[in-house]
Amino acid sequence: MPHRGDAAEVTPTTSPVTIAARRDPAGVERVLRSLPQWFGIEEAIQQYIRDAADLAYESLTAWSGDRCVGVALIRRHYPETGELHLLAVHAAYRRTGVGQRLVRRAASDLISTGAQLFSVHTVGPSYQDTGYAQTRDFYASMGFVPLEEHQGLDWTGPTLILVKPLR
Ligand SMILES: CC(C)(COP(=O)(O)OP(=O)(O)OC[C@H]1O[C@@H](n2cnc3c(N)ncnc32)[C@H](O)[C@@H]1OP(=O)(O)O)[C@@H](O)C(=O)NCCC(=O)NCCS
Repeated sequence: MPHRGDAAEVTPTTSPVTIAARRDPAGVERVLRSLPQWFGIEEAIQQYIRDAADLAYESLTAWSGDRCVGVALIRRHYPETGELHLLAVHAAYRRTGVGQRLVRRAASDLISTGAQLFSVHTVGPSYQDTGYAQTRDFYASMGFVPLEEHQGLDWTGPTLILVKPLR
């Protein structure tokens, strides 16, 4: 949710980015700290770092050489559905197709284990924020459709729940 923080320095390399079912809490921390407009509250960052190590979440990470440059954490609340609990691409790698590849891989993994619906929470459109407007554009481009907006669900402002049918 919208906050301020410090950006970490990473220079993009020409290494091809690969996606792996692998955990890297330290790498996730570096990715989140590069995105202070989205991840700026220290307690929230610490919780996501713990979540990245928590086996309750499936972890997909994007790698440029030995550096983690993106993460997707997926929670299976029910066999029929999957929730995208965390999605983030290092600031230096945004808009290079990494987020799209993480979501496609997550959707493919969910389909292969029988899920029918993929969901995600983000900041709702009734809160004016250019960063989260981009986030919603990304989800729309990935086939997520808005389902409901609620005040005070994940933070004090509006949370938008989006869903993507998997078949
Ligand atoms: C949202 C995020 C995960 C998307 O990952 P990404 O690697 O930057 O996005 P991709 O390059 O895979 O984009 C795929 C498509 O999504 C759409 N898209 C992505 N970023 C966009 C933006 N800023 N504005 C408009 N459309 C966008 C485009 O259609 C894009 O395809 P194109 O580049 O061929 O036009 C990433 O930018 C990010 O980490 N943002 C900050 C944190 C965040 O919003 N996390 C989700 C919180 S709920």
